[in-house]
Amino acid sequence: MDKYEYWSGLPEVGIVPRAPHAGPLLRHVYEQEHGRGGFAGKVTHTYHLYPPNNWLADETRALDLAAWAPAWDSPLRPLGGTHHALSVDVGGPDMAPDSPGARKRPGAAGALLGHADHDGDVYRGMARLIANATAAMNVTAPRGPMDYFFENHGATMVFFIHQGGGTLDTLLGPLEYRKGDFLVIPKGITHRFDPAAGPQHYWMYESGAGDPQKAESPSTGRFITHSESDYRFPRSLETRNEAGRFEIFSKVGATVTRRVHPTHPFDVIGWRGDYLPYRLAVEDVRPLSADRSHVPPSGHTVFTLPGCYLCVFTVRSVEKDAMWLPFFHRNLDYCETLAYHWGDFFSGGGVVGPGMVTVHPVGLPHGPKPAALRKFMDGANPGVHHEVAVMADFANPAMISDHALGLSRPDYMAAWSAYTTDSRFTFDPNRLADVRALGERLGDARDSLAPPD
Ligand SMILES: [Fe+2]
Repeated sequence: MDKYEYWSGLPEVGIVPRAPHAGPLLRHVYEQEHGRGGFAGKVTHTYHLYPPNNWLADETRALDLAAWAPAWDSPLRPLGGTHHALSVDVGGPDMAPDSPGARKRPGAAGALLGHADHDGDVYRGMARLIANATAAMNVTAPRGPMDYFFENHGATMVFFIHQGGGTLDTLLGPLEYRKGDFLVIPKGITHRFDPAAGPQHYWMYESGAGDPQKAESPSTGRFITHSESDYRFPRSLETRNEAGRFEIFSKVGATVTRRVHPTHPFDVIGWRGDYLPYRLAVEDVRPLSADRSHVPPSGHTVFTLPGCYLCVFTVRSVEKDAMWLPFFHRNLDYCETLAYHWGDFFSGGGVVGPGMVTVHPVGLPHGPKPAALRKFMDGANPGVHHEVAVMADFANPAMISDHALGLSRPDYMAAWSAYTTDSRFTFDPNRLADVRALGERLGDARDSLAPPD
């Protein structure tokens, strides 16, 4: 049974001393602290067979990120004025082969994501799409396992597994993952992805100024939109007592440092603490819904990050007696990204498909596509929103990368063009009079679910 309960205070696994920094065991093993907030925040202690800084000094190298993972360092440009739909899907349906954007889309995931000249693992194939001062969105489509270990010293990472699955091996033990999972990997934790066979496509959100916090509304509390008990933490250790040459790459900003150790980095015989990697399955997101109003996107927030919030639009009941479409809006402080995972995508109006990412810059109005709005105005109600998408909104100023611009569909601004051609939406000399008459009749009307007068 995939269940993990901690019965006492701080979680712990394996062999640990009576308390951190205390007890005779510390004369025989090597304690290491992984801590946030100076020495006063979340912390985990690991207990090692060998000193954690037993690197081979002659082999330590600092590398440019641009050489090690070229698309991760893709230059950033100011963003505004137009919306973008990015065709970062791996084999999904979308662009016609003769469209201008198709030149940028060689078809193979590796080439698409800019790592054609090596094996394309999770990190060397990472491509930056959007970033602000404290958070970023990236995408990767790994084609093989990592033959090294990785530590992100600059950010805690939130992965969403759009396609694929495998094992995330960490210093604190393994986590199995599959399609639809979030994986949170705290800053500095040594790890390695071992993807299973088959296509892999992940979105990765970096939080540079603080760990993601579980979103909770003051009035709805701990269990909407998910519960902390939905998190799955490592619960087993496979301690490795191995000699050899073990490469660890660590990243901070645009610098990657390689170091080599003579013993396996997963030589941990026990750990204790609350600074941990974890998994959250999207099926365990239980969304807030409302029959008589439209829940705004922020009502679907699962994680807040400094400068960013992450929302999940998942399968849920359609509003019965209210707008079941997004209202037209302009988000005046945040650039919105929406990554489409599965489903009908009612707001997309058939324009977007799985794997694609839309980018709606700060201030620029947007809303339902005309086809979807027509259905709503005609009184249709689909009953259930069959969709899963991940929205990440980035506080302004947000920037877009050259890599993302190369994937941008040239036709996306035309997705709303029926508003200028469909006679239902275009100029009508009688429109003002008609709406005044409707206002007389409907302006003060209530929906049918309201209590009686
Ligand atoms: Fe929006």
